[in-house]
Amino acid sequence: MPRYNRRMADRPHIFVTRTLPGGDGPGSPLARLREATDVDLWPEESPVPADVLRARIAACDGLLPMLTERIDGALLDAAPRLRAVANMAVGYDNIDVPACTARGVLVTNTPGVLTDATADIAFALLLAAARRLTEGERAVREGTWGPWNPNWLLGKPVAGTTLGIVGPGRIGAAVARRGGGFGMRVLYAGRHDVPDFPGERTDLDTLLAESDFVSMHVPLTAETTLMCNAAFFARMQPNAIFVNTTRGGVVDQGALLDALRAGTIGGAALDVTTPEPLPPTDPLLDAPNIVIAPHLGSATLETRTRMAHLAVDGLLAALGGGRPTHLVNPEALEAAQRPQSEASR
Ligand code: GLV
Ligand code: GLV
Repeated sequence: MPRYNRRMADRPHIFVTRTLPGGDGPGSPLARLREATDVDLWPEESPVPADVLRARIAACDGLLPMLTERIDGALLDAAPRLRAVANMAVGYDNIDVPACTARGVLVTNTPGVLTDATADIAFALLLAAARRLTEGERAVREGTWGPWNPNWLLGKPVAGTTLGIVGPGRIGAAVARRGGGFGMRVLYAGRHDVPDFPGERTDLDTLLAESDFVSMHVPLTAETTLMCNAAFFARMQPNAIFVNTTRGGVVDQGALLDALRAGTIGGAALDVTTPEPLPPTDPLLDAPNIVIAPHLGSATLETRTRMAHLAVDGLLAALGGGRPTHLVNPEALEAAQRPQSEASR
């Protein structure tokens, strides 16, 4: 039976791919879901295996996945009743949105609530790379910290330098505000002029040529995949630091490794890599002047709980026949409302 014409059962069946932050007490994200739906939940710390996900969503009306789950056409075909996918992330590159739209499946994400948390991590990485914090910390632990030395572990200044924001969305703007607070000049490059952005708009070439720090804030799309390649790094200043808190997929990691080894750029600070987790044998870990964090952008209890609430809001709105606030594919709403005869399946 086509999903858009099926009469809603009183209680929709949903699958949640991880224990949600915020506990299960009254008013928690999970309790809110359990009040309105029949919840099946993957309780492990590690991601649900693809074949288990496929089997468990066969009779589900809704899905609440993490960014670790790949949602594509083949998976959707194994879930003919599915009408909503509420990703607990702002990024939704793990979801084949056109495949969802074609099947009238609504997709929601969680923007806004993780903006400051992610900007904090971007700035923490920027400062750590500029001031060689992780190198110094390793020296303390490894016992190679000698007497105070006027020439040891000299980093780069932050105040008075230029910060380039590539992708002036919410998180980019929040990083720009932090840059302003640290006395930096801020440039941004993006497809559109952003009124009120706390920085000056320029083209990408100028931004790369003039910035001491380049921070990536574009979503991962076909257009941004591997956009930070050899030519990109070659356009940066030889002492500039590259910061990435969006998705590993925007970076050609081989080119980044070469640029660090050759001194084409001065350093890199990453919260995201390809793959995640990065194997401890990855050559990037031995590159000079690199700081790598394990995808911590939104990792505070407050932020993750708010993300879980937003995902629950999205799922309940979609399953209740409403228009979710953070709907990624409004076209799917039209597809879902089209009479059965016009629909593709
Ligand atoms: C985290 O990376 C997110 O997209 O929410
Ligand atoms: C995230 O909230 C963004 O739009 O940058």
